[in-house]
Amino acid sequence: MAQVLLRDVTKRFGNVVAVNNISLDVKDREFIVLVGPSGCGKTTTLRMVAGLEEITEGDIYIGDMHVNNVPPKDRDIAMVFQNYALYPHMDVYNNMAFGLKLRKFPKAEIDNRVKHAARLLGIENLLDRKPRALSGGQRQRVAVGRAIVREPKVFLMDEPLSNLDAKLRVQMRAELSKLHSRLEATIIYVTHDQTEAMTMGDRIVVMKDGLIYQAGAPLDIYNNPDNMFVAGFIGSPAMNFIDAVLVKEGDTYIIDAKTFKVEIPAERAAKIEGIGKYVNKPIVFGIRPEDIEDAAIVAEDPRYQIVEADVDVTEPMGSEVYAYLSSGESTFISRLDAGTDAKPESKHKVGFNMTKIHLFDPDTENVVR
Ligand SMILES: Nc1ncnc2c1ncn2[C@@H]1O[C@H](COP(=O)(O)OP(=O)(O)OP(=O)(O)O)[C@@H](O)[C@H]1O
Ligand SMILES: [Mg+2]
Repeated sequence: MAQVLLRDVTKRFGNVVAVNNISLDVKDREFIVLVGPSGCGKTTTLRMVAGLEEITEGDIYIGDMHVNNVPPKDRDIAMVFQNYALYPHMDVYNNMAFGLKLRKFPKAEIDNRVKHAARLLGIENLLDRKPRALSGGQRQRVAVGRAIVREPKVFLMDEPLSNLDAKLRVQMRAELSKLHSRLEATIIYVTHDQTEAMTMGDRIVVMKDGLIYQAGAPLDIYNNPDNMFVAGFIGSPAMNFIDAVLVKEGDTYIIDAKTFKVEIPAERAAKIEGIGKYVNKPIVFGIRPEDIEDAAIVAEDPRYQIVEADVDVTEPMGSEVYAYLSSGESTFISRLDAGTDAKPESKHKVGFNMTKIHLFDPDTENVVR
């Protein structure tokens, strides 16, 4: 079993708390993604698992072994870094074989493993090339190959795709996901890119300031964010946050954003147990850009509440249009149909899908459940 357990793990560099008392269970063969903004402690967490960084407090287990004091080479892990320096004077074969030769593996075994990894990665035809004769994506594959030949139980990957151009990144993203199912290994993958996290992870761990803000399956996190940080970090463009006051008329809860009011459907309100406490109090109204549509399309749909907004800017994306809208002091982005007639510096009616709304406490920034 290659589960990885972190128990109350803290890392301090002098006064800097890089990782602040985090606990995490990575299951055997799970593909887990640590995601968060620059400086949130992702690399430090990975380096502690690898044994490259001492743990200030807490415990780490790999499999059943307590590894706090186990040197990196005895941890049965392989790490792929962002700056995967390949040896420029060695061909691909020897770049991949190098670590095994150092460990004095028999020649035939090395040959088997290198060829097997090359097959998995589709680089069999490149084995005699030098790195300078490879494209960025091919070099990246060799770097991954170097880790695969070790046949570790756990792969640690620190932003391995960040040097690649956008198109290659998309391609490698899919390849790494496929590879994961073939390798049957545990992968801990670090990125600051929420799209990579959403598409690759069995589970995402969202970090900020050395803390875990939420961990869960990608769609669970997207649909049920625990707090404004996670709600704003996962999803693109980010969720809109509108300052409002919650009011109640009869049995109906209404979000009052001064220049517009929208009703919360009874069904949705019933699922927010704590809603009653916020009546006549400030609340943050969260709605994703993809849940705001052209009123012309959704006017008849009871889930939607129609609001007239000013169009500040439109960005045609080809398949859709990002419209930057405002009403009074509230600004929000919507992803409208490509055929929308929304035009800058004019008014436009949009529908908010009220079944998809989120409410947040303005002080704690936690979701109201
Ligand atoms: N060797 C070190 N000495 C002092 N502070 C450090 C050291 N390494 C990291 N830090 C600090 O610890 C915090 C976490 O750093 P870390 O590299 O883990 O962030 P990260 O999430 O990987 O960020 P990025 O996305 O930019 O790579 C940062 O505030 C960083 O400045
Ligand atoms: Mg980092």
